[in-house]
Amino acid sequence: MSEKATIILDGKNYELPVITGTENEKAIDISKLRAQSGYVTYDEGYKNTGATISNVTFLDGELGILRYRGYSIEELAEKASFTEVSYLLLYGELPTAQQLANFEHELTNHTLVHENLVKVFEVFPTRSHPMGQLMTLMSALSSFYPDSLNPNVHPDEVNTTIIRLLAKMPTICSMIYKKGKGHPVLYPQNKYDYVTNFLYMTFGDVTQEYMADPVVVDAMNKLLILHADHEQNCSASTVRIVGSSHANLYASISAGVAALWGPRHGGANQEVLEMLEHIQTVDKGDVKKVVAEAKDKKRLLYGFGHRVYKNFDPRAKIIKVACDNVLKKLKVNDPLLDIAKELEEAALNDPYFVERKLYPNVDFYSGIIYKALGFPTPMFTVLFALGRMPGWISQWKEMRERKEDIGRPRQIYNGATLRPYIDLKNRK
Ligand code: CMC
Repeated sequence: MSEKATIILDGKNYELPVITGTENEKAIDISKLRAQSGYVTYDEGYKNTGATISNVTFLDGELGILRYRGYSIEELAEKASFTEVSYLLLYGELPTAQQLANFEHELTNHTLVHENLVKVFEVFPTRSHPMGQLMTLMSALSSFYPDSLNPNVHPDEVNTTIIRLLAKMPTICSMIYKKGKGHPVLYPQNKYDYVTNFLYMTFGDVTQEYMADPVVVDAMNKLLILHADHEQNCSASTVRIVGSSHANLYASISAGVAALWGPRHGGANQEVLEMLEHIQTVDKGDVKKVVAEAKDKKRLLYGFGHRVYKNFDPRAKIIKVACDNVLKKLKVNDPLLDIAKELEEAALNDPYFVERKLYPNVDFYSGIIYKALGFPTPMFTVLFALGRMPGWISQWKEMRERKEDIGRPRQIYNGATLRPYIDLKNRK
């Protein structure tokens, strides 16, 4: 017999179906509750609300588990390439060698952007933030493909839009970097794979031959894989809810970029590095003082805590090891890494952090690697977005394939009740 939950309201019993996922996660299906009883549920920030039934990513915050389509993040980060993981997220299975070759070939053939898109950069003031630029460029893409705005077309046509977006993302991200430096942009080269192409367009130079460093390519692949999806987080939920109105994919992704920019979400990676620099210079490396101030709620320890992980963020564990390796291999000696380790140690041994289950998250060590690879701090969240693109698109695609209704939460209205209009002359 299928499990049911009973809720008693005003002395009446209501039986609600219980949904069980493949990992034994359970949910009470309240979708008919209001129609039957007049009641809605209340859950600010949707912390306890399952907004969809998804097959993409599994996350257990208590045990510190993250899997894409059933494959552990540890194994994917060690063995797969970013394009393989993108394929897996988008289409549900790891690609065969032929499928991967076709996918990469398609991506390679869509990397160029319309020349007029480059002109959009002319209107940005010099100090405009890369994430603001990325948001604008994502929505600007919609203007260049007016024929592919309707999501209700044949899946093959939708797939072309998906490939286009994924293929152009590295080109656009590297342009943001180049334009920020005032350097000429580099056009994509078909001889390079996805990640090497991005690195070439970013760190290559028109004046000389580019030599990809395998250490950098490997680190970049890992970082992108670790950021590729994270189930119903703030930006993915935004992409899904915007897309649920049948808004086009570019607009939905642009909204996701906006959500990611916030310092409580992806913007935290920039905040972490700035915090570590602040600790080094202004706080003179006094980690004890920083921890004490965090406990007094005078400051936030960026890169610590997570909405769902109440244990180690598995991505943070992998990034910490990668960080040590990359810095060693590139012969970079960054004192910020020592400060980060000291801070982690201090926090993990402090009852305030232990009791609240605050552990380092994905953003804690990623910035130190990005810095060692040569990226300026304001580009960090753009790199997060580059990695998250296949995840956002997969979430959007799933939402469309499930034919989900338009997202429309309810509220408990708590404002003024009906009152008569007061003429302007009579208002005090
Ligand atoms: N530093 C100091 N105290 C903290 C921190 C922190 N980073 N995070 C949470 N707390 C405290 C918070 O003040 C609260 O204390 P109290 O019980 O005394 O009121 C307690 O811990 C629980 O906090 P919460 O607000 O219920 O935690 P949450 O799970 O709702 O919030 C979070 C999660 C990520 C918004 C928060 O931990 C935070 O702001 N962290 C810093 C920003 C950050 O690193 N964000 C990146 C998240 S991972 C990548 C991503 O999602 O993009």
